[in-house]
Amino acid sequence: MKFFIDTADIEEIRGLTATGMLDGVTTNPSLIAKSGRVFKEVIAEICEIVDGPVSAEVIALDAEGMITQGRDLAKIAKNVTVKVPLTWAGLEACSTLSKEGTLVNVTLCFSANQALLAAKAGATFISPFVGRLDDLNLDGMELIEDIRQIYDNYEFKTEILVASIRTANHVKEAALIGADVATLPPQVLRQLINHQLTDKGLEAFMADWKKTGQNL
Ligand code: G3P
Repeated sequence: MKFFIDTADIEEIRGLTATGMLDGVTTNPSLIAKSGRVFKEVIAEICEIVDGPVSAEVIALDAEGMITQGRDLAKIAKNVTVKVPLTWAGLEACSTLSKEGTLVNVTLCFSANQALLAAKAGATFISPFVGRLDDLNLDGMELIEDIRQIYDNYEFKTEILVASIRTANHVKEAALIGADVATLPPQVLRQLINHQLTDKGLEAFMADWKKTGQNL
């Protein structure tokens, strides 16, 4: 399973790149606003740090505008992945940009049928938002299962990029289902390593080593 990080915070990205766990980055207009940075500048900087796909979202709502903005964003670096919303205009833009060889991430997916449309439009990634479905008392992971089944039935190459992840458990469940990618808030990625028995065991090993009086 690939791990992307869902942030536009350069320091977070640098820090997590050092762990060797990062396969890509996703951003959205809300995360760009939070960074307080100039959109294209921050995307260019992220692309220099990370080799894998870096999602940058268009803000036009019509297909022509999305295609123009997508082509412009794709010029920033070869790993820019143009993010378009799951609307008819977004699917049209996805289809055109994908045919031109641009990586496309179709975002704001909340149903299996939407994911089916995105795959047919040639999306590189489909981004179903599990946390926002859970917020409505619906089952985000059930959607991931459905999309996995549909994509496998027809051998679609579109990768399932699980988004709106809120907990470490979301990551485990998505991995069990066989999602291709999880995009994680930085704090959730850090939480994945936590286990009290690891901490306790390491503490005991260190205490016993001290008793040997040896140096390494
Ligand atoms: O990038 C999209 C997504 O991951 C948003 O997550 O927590 O705002 O629902 P959230």
